[in-house]
Amino acid sequence: MKLIEAKNYADLSRKAANIISAQVILSPRSVLGLATGSTPIGTYKQLIEWYQKGDIDFSNVKTVNLDEYWGLSGDNPQSYRYFMDENFFNHINIKKENTFVPNGMAKDAEEECRRYDELISNLGGIDLQLLGIGHNGHIGFNEPEKAFEKTTHMVDLNESTIKANARFFNSIDEVPKRAITMGIKSIMQARKILLVANGKDKKDIVERALYGSITPSVPASILQLHSDLTVVYCFE
Ligand code: F6R
Repeated sequence: MKLIEAKNYADLSRKAANIISAQVILSPRSVLGLATGSTPIGTYKQLIEWYQKGDIDFSNVKTVNLDEYWGLSGDNPQSYRYFMDENFFNHINIKKENTFVPNGMAKDAEEECRRYDELISNLGGIDLQLLGIGHNGHIGFNEPEKAFEKTTHMVDLNESTIKANARFFNSIDEVPKRAITMGIKSIMQARKILLVANGKDKKDIVERALYGSITPSVPASILQLHSDLTVVYCFE
């Protein structure tokens, strides 16, 4: 496990973007696993800036996102597909057809979960997975449970996650109660993992995840078992 302390959010974003850009420069056909949420926004901004300067080429990159709200279509501004287009894909030279996010409007949820796992495996797996961490230790939308869920699956979001995500909606009632998320196995099979955590409110959970017992009640604790985990953090 490599721990990289950042001075502030801008520094964290630059450091995380550096790791992603090194991946893409060294392996232009990389499959990147991506996350939404507020933490990676600065990382995406930095990557866009470097792309605009001509330093990174995303034309052969493929991406798979961790999760999507159930019941939201990609043109809904609250959907994760929309978030990714707005905050990243629309500003770089990635081919849209090479960007994948679970379909929150699929007719059959189970079938969609199966399709998503198959897709990841057909892409040859994930080279570098970017992760944020929830206050309860969730990664993707893998919430604290009695057992680790391995494959892509439907989750009922926790009260605390619904509350935390309400900041992106007009009211808490609008926050979807369910989501599709990649499972722990797909995340752990990524060849490299980059976890980003920002803010004093993330300090406790990051410490529990990295140094506490490995337990499904702190889903991120499984990352201790990954052989190539980098954590970029700023707890200021
Ligand atoms: C987002 C995701 C979530 C977030 C986590 C932290 O795709 O899967 O696990 O990474 O909720 O979110 P922020 O960065 O907003 O604190």
